Amino acid sequence: MNFASRMSRVTVSPTLRVAAEADRLRRQGVDVVDLGAGEPDFGTPEHVKNAAHAALDANFTKYTPSAGVLELREAVCQRYRLDYGVHVKPEEVIITAGAKQALYNTAMVLFEPGDEVITHGPFWPSIVDQIKLADAKPVIVQTHMEDGFKIKAGEIIDAITPRTKAIVINSPCNPTGALIAEDDLIAIADAASARGIWMVADVTYEKLVYDVASHNVVGVLFERMRDRTVICSAASKAYAMTGWRCGWAIGPKEVTAQSNVLQGHSTSNINSITQKAGIAALTGPQDDVAKMLNEYRERRDAVHAWLTADPRFVCVKPGGAFYLFPYIADLLSPGGIKSSGEFAEALLKEVAVAVTPGEGFDSPGFFRLSYATSIERLEEGVDRIRSFVQKLESSGKLATTR
Ligand SMILES: Cc1ncc(COP(=O)(O)O)c(C=O)c1O
Repeated sequence: MNFASRMSRVTVSPTLRVAAEADRLRRQGVDVVDLGAGEPDFGTPEHVKNAAHAALDANFTKYTPSAGVLELREAVCQRYRLDYGVHVKPEEVIITAGAKQALYNTAMVLFEPGDEVITHGPFWPSIVDQIKLADAKPVIVQTHMEDGFKIKAGEIIDAITPRTKAIVINSPCNPTGALIAEDDLIAIADAASARGIWMVADVTYEKLVYDVASHNVVGVLFERMRDRTVICSAASKAYAMTGWRCGWAIGPKEVTAQSNVLQGHSTSNINSITQKAGIAALTGPQDDVAKMLNEYRERRDAVHAWLTADPRFVCVKPGGAFYLFPYIADLLSPGGIKSSGEFAEALLKEVAVAVTPGEGFDSPGFFRLSYATSIERLEEGVDRIRSFVQKLESSGKLATTR
């Protein structure tokens, strides 16, 4: 069939592909340990659900302004003032169907053919595919396991050319869990600002930072280059609200207005009931966020310890998000399991554990394991992974160079 050429530049999200296969097996009655999912296993906080019930009961079920109701945009402003000390006006905020649409709007509004957009790898695939959908060219600066997937300002700045339109930073990063250091961010922001380059910050995992770290991405960018910064985030991960589709972009009011034109011609407002839930999430008690964070931290520490007890798994302990990104390339061999894609496939088929292969993040040799699931299931999952590797090794299907 004759599809538009832009469709040949993008592929199905690999995380969704793994989820679909795991779901298929589950429906066949297989006990799948799903470590592929990029979403919290916790329920949405009660007071948030209550706000949604109340909205439904009050028939708050009609169109709203396309950019979202004023009260929700004000709630975003208040949250960012409390969390980061920045002052944002409602006309600088647009409410979107998750951080994904916030990023998509931004890409469509700012990028065009001939533009280069720098980001860092391993990356969350939609960041790069959205750049391509906007007919711009992604320029990937690789980060490395050896130094904790640190985003190095010098390497990002070296990638700038006269065609660079924007730099997209994702911190905490999916899939590596790495946090950008404020010093690096300042250096990048100053270089971008001096050249009129946009900074787009995807801070979807902003609430999931485990250790004491200076990580005020929003504060730094607003202080250094507010007129060329767009912040994209969502209630999805912080408040266990992935299915509700509540995100936002914060930027100069002109950019927000353009995003609203785009959104007005495509999806219009996000679900009206979700908007009321979003207000409750952002303005209500934040104890659930702290509880979830503590639980994720315990899981991170436990899973990291279980996995790396086997020296064949090399794995950075991440500072944020809820993923581990183990390196398994040394286990792969031409005569046996050849790629992390094959590894993930075999893992699902043989021991019913779903993980996401590194190829999906342009990082063959790795896989992504989500610890957004109960500690019992995580223990079971890691046990299965380790025994799978053991079995493969004894049957001569894995390299044993390590
Ligand atoms: C880095 C990153 N950005 C954005 C998103 C999109 O989040 P949302 O579900 O709010 O659209 C995700 C979701 O996995 C993500 O990992």
